[in-house]
Formats: sequence, C-alpha cells, structure tokens
Amino acid sequence: MKTRIGILTGGGDCPGLNAVIRAVVKSAAKRGWDTLGIYGGFEGLMRPTRAKPLDYTQMDGLLYLGGTILGTSNKGRFSAKAGHGEGRQIDPAILAEARAGFEELGLRALVVVGGDGSLSIAQQCLEAGIRVVGVPKTIDNDIAGTVVTFGFDSAVAFATDALDRLRSTAQSHDRVMIGEVMGRYAGWIAAHAGIAGGADVILIPEIPFNYDSVCKVIRDREALGKHFSLVVVAEGAREKGRDFVTLGEAGAIREARLGGIGAVVADEIAKRTGKETRVCVMGHLQRGGAPTTFDRLLCTRFGAGAVRLIAQEKYGYMVAHRPPDTEAIPIMEAVGHLRTVPLDGDIIRTARELGIGFGD
Ligand code: F6P
Repeated sequence: MKTRIGILTGGGDCPGLNAVIRAVVKSAAKRGWDTLGIYGGFEGLMRPTRAKPLDYTQMDGLLYLGGTILGTSNKGRFSAKAGHGEGRQIDPAILAEARAGFEELGLRALVVVGGDGSLSIAQQCLEAGIRVVGVPKTIDNDIAGTVVTFGFDSAVAFATDALDRLRSTAQSHDRVMIGEVMGRYAGWIAAHAGIAGGADVILIPEIPFNYDSVCKVIRDREALGKHFSLVVVAEGAREKGRDFVTLGEAGAIREARLGGIGAVVADEIAKRTGKETRVCVMGHLQRGGAPTTFDRLLCTRFGAGAVRLIAQEKYGYMVAHRPPDTEAIPIMEAVGHLRTVPLDGDIIRTARELGIGFGD
C-alpha cells in the first residue's frame, strides 16, 4: 500500500495557500506518496469525509493562484477562538469523530495549514491521536516561533501600494487620508506597510493612542506647509482607555469581527483639526490575489518542509522560518500566545527616528 498523507487549510484564507498545497503534493509525490486534499478545513474529516486525491501532474498554476482550492472555515464547531481571541477547547466527541475520519482515509499524517486558531486545533487533534504537522499561515503575522508567516508579505505589499495611492489623492486635495488595515490584535501589517508607504501616523494595538498626539503630528505638518497627512490605522488599534471597535458581537464559537476604528479616528481628526478627512478600509483585498515572490518561495519551502517532517515522523511539529533556514518547532510552542510588534524592536525604533507618530 502506498503511503498517503492528507492536507487541509483552516481559518481565514490568504495568498500562498495553493502554493503550499502544490509544494506538499509535489514533494510527497517525489517520495512516492499520494496526497489527499481534505475539503472545508477540519470539517472535511468528519464522516462522510470530504476528500479527493490531488494529482501531482495537475498542480500547474497553483503557485500564484489566490485563495485555497480546498476551501476553509474560521467558525463553527472547529473554531478554536471566541470573543477577543480567547482559546476554545473543541468538543472531545468531535475530535474523536475527526480521528475516525482520519483513520478511515488511511492517512499516515495530516498537514494542517493554518493560523493560531487552526494550529491549536491541530494540537488538540494530535492529543486525540491524529498525526499532524503544521504550516503557519496568516496575513496577521502573529504566530510565535516563526520570524514570519506566509501571506504577510503579500498583505503588506498590497497595503503599501494602496497607501501610495492614498498619499497622492491626499496631496492633491490637502486632506488627511486614513488607511485601515487588518491584523487583528497585532500591528504588523500597519507598522510594515505604514513605514514602507511613508505614513505620518501609525496606530497599532500594541500602543493605545490619544487624539492630542495624533493631531499634533497633523498640525506640525501644516506648520511646515504640508497640508496633507497619511494615517494608517490597524483594525485592532484603540484609544487609550477605550475598547476595540468591532463590526457586531462575537459569538460563542467565533471571534469578534474587528473593524470601523478608521472611521472613528477620521471623525475625531476632522473635528479637532478642521481638516477634510477620508477613510479607506482595505479589508479583504489584503487577503486575496496572488502571493508575492517572497511568499511563493516561503510557501514552497514550508510545503516541502512539512513533508520532510512527516518523513522524519516529527508529528506535532510545524515548520518555522528562522532565516536562513526553515526549522521544526513543536506546535505547542507556537500556539496560544500572540506574537505582537515588539515596542523596543527595530521596526518601532526606525519609525520613531523618522518622526512617524504612534499617537502616544
Ligand atoms: O486573521 C486574518 C484576518 O483577515 C484578520 O486580519 C481579520 O481581522 C479577520 O481575518 C477577518 O475575518 P473574516 O474574514 O471572518 O471577516
């Protein structure tokens, strides 16, 4: 009997998922193994299972195709998060059923491609007897243990391009333009795109802001004859002493939907400075489309690395980017603690040295 492995994608999609699938299928085939694609995230393991063989000769075009050909989900009975990122235990009966599906499919191991939530489900699956290896995915870049997750570079590239566009219209109209970006409770996208896009103010969850400080940057620019400003706001940014701004309530089996802080900040800036202010929410555009060159390479290395972990029987491990190599770390070490932007790190330091305001 040929060795057969499975692969599923979980959580929110991001550029590069298909590139990982391709790399897993091709490097498994090179070892003489078959790969089954599990559809709809962990739900596909529930009997009747939803799985299809992935033919290694049919991987053309996947390297740069956005989304995931396997489908995914970030809610429901396999949601590992609720509220504002609180961990959730999956019902043991559901995990037992997933294990039965895993065994019925005759899988030697399962590659779980996912963010903090999906990787913590992977850890729970491991404890329930499913042999898993992980690949860290998310545009948010908030997974511990890896220097970067795939999808992040693509999201930053999109956001930076969008900021370039916002800057030119801000300048033409002497306006304040606000770009709201994703990232949940970490400010990685905002900080990186903000610096690369030449923002004047960057508001991130790690640094609660106050409006006096934000508006001072805008007024100081006015005094210099610069009648426009560019402000980047992470969806998880919040005013000191205030709660997160959300788009509706969190459910018992899904996380709160962050969003809307850009409009709140725009209103306040307009009120306080008298400047015409507009907001652009970049939203899911950051998650769609083709991966960047960096992400294609990272996804390919991660996919091949995941298959290598299975060959070494390193179940319960995930691939991590630790330049110049990819390394294996226990999934357990990566999940459950958000990796946020370090306040004493080079990113924040560089921004401050350039005069970018963080609203503190
Ligand atoms: O985790 C990725 C992410 O895009 C976050 O940046 C964002 O808060 C969230 O997912 C949006 O989720 P949904 O697609 O369910 O609205």
